[in-house]
Amino acid sequence: MLAPVSGEVFLDGTVGAGGHAEKIAERIGPEGLLVCADADPTMLTLASERLRRFPRAVMVHADFADLEVLREASGGRMFDGMLLDLGLSSPQLSDPSRGFSFQGDGPLDMRRDPGAGGTTAREILGRSTERELADIFFRFGEERFSRRIARALVTLRRKEPVESTARLADLVKSAIPRKAWPRKIHPATRVFQALRIAVNRELESLAVFLDRFASHLAPGGRVAVISFQSLEDRMVKIAFRTQSTGPTAALHVLTRKPVVPAETESRSNPRAASAKLRVVRKNV
Ligand SMILES: C[S@@+](CC[C@H](N)C(=O)[O-])C[C@H]1O[C@@H](n2cnc3c(N)ncnc32)[C@H](O)[C@@H]1O
Repeated sequence: MLAPVSGEVFLDGTVGAGGHAEKIAERIGPEGLLVCADADPTMLTLASERLRRFPRAVMVHADFADLEVLREASGGRMFDGMLLDLGLSSPQLSDPSRGFSFQGDGPLDMRRDPGAGGTTAREILGRSTERELADIFFRFGEERFSRRIARALVTLRRKEPVESTARLADLVKSAIPRKAWPRKIHPATRVFQALRIAVNRELESLAVFLDRFASHLAPGGRVAVISFQSLEDRMVKIAFRTQSTGPTAALHVLTRKPVVPAETESRSNPRAASAKLRVVRKNV
């Protein structure tokens, strides 16, 4: 649906390990230009190795919401295509020292860009009130047992600081009644998601991008967003719909329903199971 062709200017706002970027770079060829952004410098290093054979792939350490910075990297040219593949990539998830995952034990960090400072998950868990914690779990994780979990956390932290991913995962498990444990995911999945979103202000970046991307898109340009949870998918759906409705609409939605992976893909790559792809095109 992004349909990159030779000579086009593209943005991969979440380059990660560079898998999508590599496919785009092959299609736009030596006449094209690909701006690759990631907020995590570790991922940019990985991507630049993978994309070394494409001299026209430019790496930028930036949030995808910083569209002005990304336009500068394109020499001021509008983008013919933009991609966001939200969330985290496998190398981030599987490194216990980053603190994103409850599989394996590590410090509760969760910052996408630790070098930039900012608040860690451990600090949020240590400083927030019970009410604030419950709000984070409910708003960003849609966790039904947000209050019970927040209460259990506050009780525990009076005795000892909550500092490791394994400790947090155990606590969440014991705070949710066994019969209410979700069937397909680990009981702590929603709390980990909520903390990660809070630490990195993920919804704010997405909201800014959705509000501004159209003015950086060339006529006929396409934008694809892949999201992995319902909060983000809802934001994308509403933004695309709003900007494609009415007589002066700037965009046209190419995906009436989100594109989801086939069962075979979900089975062979379980991390893709919750993916939803939505695409718009700018009117000419
Ligand atoms: C799912 S991965 C992308 C994987 C990539 N499409 C590939 O083929 O390897 C998401 C990446 O986006 C980055 N990311 C998430 N939110 C971001 C933001 N607001 N700004 C910049 N990068 C972001 C993460 O650090 C991560 O590397």
